[in-house]
Amino acid sequence: MHDDGYFDEQVARTYDRDHGGTDPAEIRQTVTCLTDLAGGGPILEFAIGTGRIALPLVDHGAQVKGIELSSAMVRRLREKETKPPIEVAIGDMTTTRIEGAFSLVILVFNTIDNLTTQDAQIACFQNAARHLAPGGRFVIETLVPPLQKLPFGETKLAFANSATHFGIDDFDVATQCYSSNHVWMTDASHTHTSIPFRYAWPSEFDLMAKIAGLKPEFRWSNWDRAPFDRFSTKHISVWRKD
Ligand SMILES: C[S@@+](CC[C@H](N)C(=O)[O-])C[C@H]1O[C@@H](n2cnc3c(N)ncnc32)[C@H](O)[C@@H]1O
Repeated sequence: MHDDGYFDEQVARTYDRDHGGTDPAEIRQTVTCLTDLAGGGPILEFAIGTGRIALPLVDHGAQVKGIELSSAMVRRLREKETKPPIEVAIGDMTTTRIEGAFSLVILVFNTIDNLTTQDAQIACFQNAARHLAPGGRFVIETLVPPLQKLPFGETKLAFANSATHFGIDDFDVATQCYSSNHVWMTDASHTHTSIPFRYAWPSEFDLMAKIAGLKPEFRWSNWDRAPFDRFSTKHISVWRKD
């Protein structure tokens, strides 16, 4: 039977409520930036999820396909679709192929970190490169590891503390592995999730891109294309295939 990974039916059911509420202005900036990068050509989204970005891209006139591990997440996407269905291949973005030569492959919302080994992250870059037409681009959006916030030897960093949500990340600087731990509370119940990740510095991602035959083109700190600097908490990085 197919394994949906950490984004099973229960997580998929609440994903848009818990994670999908991105500021509409940021979604617009994301879509504008991505369609500019695609230059009118086809876009492939790795880990397309519930279509948080893919559906607004389609609404903006982009041609989009997707690869996604979790069939439960894709079922949520299908419930929201109002246009002809996006072609989605269910499978692992490190190995799964979908037909087409794309202008842009995208992997947003920290999802490169869902691949918990360096080998898997390299394989993801290689699979992105395989799907790109000459001149095509691979873009990732992910966090800058927030290790400067941790006192020496400490591992836990709280990032949410509200009446409905507690969140704590737990970092191991020896392995570059971390887990993101959430408790979501409603009047009736609470749910706990813990998902493993691997962080890497932008320089390590540049090396992965080089191994995959991609060249660095842009690095921004947000979708408005603000410069990346030492205060940036995330990066949007773009590499190009010759
Ligand atoms: C944080 S969500 C992001 C979903 C969507 N891109 C968005 O921006 O809302 C992470 C997604 O990555 C998917 N995923 C995790 N590992 C994957 C893998 N190895 N191959 C394909 N999809 C994967 C999960 O199933 C989940 O849908």
